[in-house]
Amino acid sequence: MNRLLAAQVVGRVMRSGAYSNVLVQAETRDFDPRDAGHVRFLVFGTLRHLVRIDRVIAGYSKRPRIDPNILDVLRVAVFELLETDSPPHAVVNGAVESAGTLGGPKVKGFVNGLLRSVERFGDPSPGDRVERFGLHRDVLDALDDCWGGDVTDAFMGASFEPAVTVARRRRATVEVGEAVPIADFPDAFEVGLGVDSDDWAVQDAASIAVGASVPLSGHGLVLDMAAAPGGKALHLYDRLNAQSGDGSRLILADAHPKRIVRAQKRLGKVGWHPSWVQADARSAPFADDTFDAVLLDAPCTGLGTLRRRPEIKLRINQSDVQRMAGIQAKMLSEAIRVTRPGGTVVYSVCTVTGAETIDQVAGLPGRPPDGLPGEVWGNGILLAPHLTGTDGMFISSVDVS
Ligand SMILES: C[S@@+](CC[C@H](N)C(=O)[O-])C[C@H]1O[C@@H](n2cnc3c(N)ncnc32)[C@H](O)[C@@H]1O
Repeated sequence: MNRLLAAQVVGRVMRSGAYSNVLVQAETRDFDPRDAGHVRFLVFGTLRHLVRIDRVIAGYSKRPRIDPNILDVLRVAVFELLETDSPPHAVVNGAVESAGTLGGPKVKGFVNGLLRSVERFGDPSPGDRVERFGLHRDVLDALDDCWGGDVTDAFMGASFEPAVTVARRRRATVEVGEAVPIADFPDAFEVGLGVDSDDWAVQDAASIAVGASVPLSGHGLVLDMAAAPGGKALHLYDRLNAQSGDGSRLILADAHPKRIVRAQKRLGKVGWHPSWVQADARSAPFADDTFDAVLLDAPCTGLGTLRRRPEIKLRINQSDVQRMAGIQAKMLSEAIRVTRPGGTVVYSVCTVTGAETIDQVAGLPGRPPDGLPGEVWGNGILLAPHLTGTDGMFISSVDVS
């Protein structure tokens, strides 16, 4: 059953643009943790290795076309045969049964034959680096140009590892119990189950670092310019409340109504009901010099989150990178315009391409925020799975004059 569900989730991720982490969580909500973990392992592993898996299937298949649902069953099974210690007979039998459920008895022989060949002969080709990482070649080339091949390899290698669940302690007085502190990231803890509550907010440590980077005086007016689904906004709210018991000087904005509604639901569950401004930050509806601090956690290609959403690498090419970079540049220029002289814009993106990170703040008075781990990169700091064991995140504090 786990294998069939994993195949169906892979299909929805690949054909309807769903996010694997969101879908796995939704589909396994009522599962016991071991089964939920097994489904996640199968889905994430299959997506991580998908380019190679599809080549292997195409190599052994004699059919011009494979029904997409059956292909997904094969993909999960080939992942298990090539990349895991699962007993091959259980993998093949499970896939044959799933294929029978989806496609009737005729397809069972095809699935059985193909998987028996993979079991016996394995992958006949060593594959190349593009295939191993599953990134588009132009994106891989761009990372190599920025970092060199060794660092790119380290980043991609670490991006294949599973991410732990991290939550932020919302107040210093919260009992941490069994939660394990994440070194160098104040208030970040590894937790078993990730659920937002009055005491905890589920966020990767790199996201917690962003919320910690925004300078809050306790008196000033603060804008979170692309705030949905509200993770970092809640952090700013908690920090303001800890300072003065009043988070009301925080303005939340986002362009997308559906995402705002989702954020309102999420924040409402933990008892916060802020009002939102629905606005395109490329032409922000705020006067010049209005805010003391602006957080621009910009939309981006998301390549820093591959541990949780491996399918992103299959979707992003270099023209997406350039398109996002154009949007980010406009938003950043607006963020600076609406910030008063002497104030600060914190620019962050959960990606690692040069065009969306260092290039955005090159020529600006950007600097790494104080007191964060990671590696200084251009006018900012890079957190990344191979450096800090976190999601990939670039953060720069831009002093506005
Ligand atoms: C990285 S997400 C923000 C995550 C959020 N800060 C958090 O911590 O939960 C980027 C957000 O930018 C929003 N966005 C995309 N284009 C935008 C635009 N032109 N103006 C304002 N917001 C935009 C998206 O709706 C998305 O919610």
